[in-house]
Amino acid sequence: MAGNSAFVVVANRLPVDKVVGPDGEVSYRRSPGGLVTALEPVLQQRNGTWVGWPGGAGDADTPEENFEAGGVQLHAVSLTAGEIERYYEGFSNSSLWPLYHDAVETPVFKRRWWESYRLVNERFAKAVADDAAPGATVWVQDYQLQLVPALLRETRPDLKIGFFLHIPFPPVELFMQLPRRADILKGLLGADLVGFQRPLGAQNFVQLARHLLGTRVRRGIVEWEGRTVRAEAFPISIDVEEMRRLAGSPEVQARAAAIRTELGEPRTIILGVDRLDYTKGIERRLKAFRELLSEGRLTAPETVMVQVATPSRERVEHYQTLRVNVEREVGRINGEYGRVGQPAVHYLHQSYSRAELAALYVAADVMMVTPLRDGMNLVAKEYVGARADGGGAIVLSEFAGAAAELRQAFLCNPHDLDGVKDALMRAIHVDPVEGRKRMHAMHSHLRAHDVRTWADAFLDALGAAS
Ligand code: ADP
Ligand code: G6P
Repeated sequence: MAGNSAFVVVANRLPVDKVVGPDGEVSYRRSPGGLVTALEPVLQQRNGTWVGWPGGAGDADTPEENFEAGGVQLHAVSLTAGEIERYYEGFSNSSLWPLYHDAVETPVFKRRWWESYRLVNERFAKAVADDAAPGATVWVQDYQLQLVPALLRETRPDLKIGFFLHIPFPPVELFMQLPRRADILKGLLGADLVGFQRPLGAQNFVQLARHLLGTRVRRGIVEWEGRTVRAEAFPISIDVEEMRRLAGSPEVQARAAAIRTELGEPRTIILGVDRLDYTKGIERRLKAFRELLSEGRLTAPETVMVQVATPSRERVEHYQTLRVNVEREVGRINGEYGRVGQPAVHYLHQSYSRAELAALYVAADVMMVTPLRDGMNLVAKEYVGARADGGGAIVLSEFAGAAAELRQAFLCNPHDLDGVKDALMRAIHVDPVEGRKRMHAMHSHLRAHDVRTWADAFLDALGAAS
């Protein structure tokens, strides 16, 4: 059965999480992560429906709901507690997430997770099929829904189907570890266009198709079941104007000044903002800071570090271990280098409003973005977007997709601790004229490559794909 939406986006998460209070009252909270940050302005601009999970557990009888939030039409598909455990925490975030991020933590494979992944993908595909008008464009997002393109094509061959992967696509030899690897690949090949953050992701995908399924490939186009599937890079971005305006507003400027005062007017504020995820390199960043303090190359309280780490996937074991390790390291640094009322590291395991994050960006002298592997990393782009004033500096891992564009950052290899320390010291002591030149260059790059350019490029290519 077809619906009446000409444009449907489907992602595991909706842009808002539904929160049911103790008295049963319902409220909505912005969902975490870069996917939501990027897609929300795109959906606000284009009329369309966003299909996704509203967070929390429902049961088999929970009806699908349609509602509107922030100017976007939403279609909520619920997951049961068992599906959250097997599809979301299990196959998506204990198998696929670590495997696709260079196996920086060992992927876990459990056979019973697959069935749930398949069933939930079927449910999402059906929800999309119900919403999509004849001949509609459907844009499937990310690693949780890799079977949806092929499932949709089976029931709705009239649709234009695009898929975008927000995280890295691994090299063939890593992907080959994945049980059900051929099913995943065939799922993706149901799309007309498969988009990646970096050209290397597209190359890995095409090589895999050739290796695993023996497909013919010509100039990035895979021939599969009598159709062609394009694979191409589309580096994602942010709503630069929105961040620039927010950061320049009198309220945020005043809040940034207040943050500096609350931190004791230090000479240097170093900032980290991440989901609490082991791919983000938070532990190494803290260790680099501790070593610089112990060597006397930095001193507290003249230098203060603020680490914001949004809670994420808290029931998954890798994340629980990470939290213990990060909190131990913070305690160690503050134990050795803090004073009463003056911690050396301010660690905030909390979620903040966009305005508060913008104020932190404006207040910070050096932003540290040091993931071990990251598809793009929008925090890096938000910091640059917030610094139209040319102030600040950014230390950026070579292993973040953003490093390909933010070439004037202080680039580092996060596995090389001495290299991270040196990059941080260079960023702290950069000549102000050179510092501004770097930030201005990156800021202009982003203004020309914002999230709307990204969405237009993908959807134009999808429109042109046969
Ligand atoms: P990922 O998608 O892996 O989480 P990104 O850096 O691409 O990484 O995107 C993270 C997004 O989440 C950014 O838009 C950032 O502003 C937001 N974010 C990160 N930490 C917080 C926080 N503590 N409170 C609110 N939003 C946050
Ligand atoms: C990354 C992923 C997204 C995911 C987000 C937040 O950005 O690419 O697909 O939504 O992290 O993670 P969560 O598991 O909370 O949805």
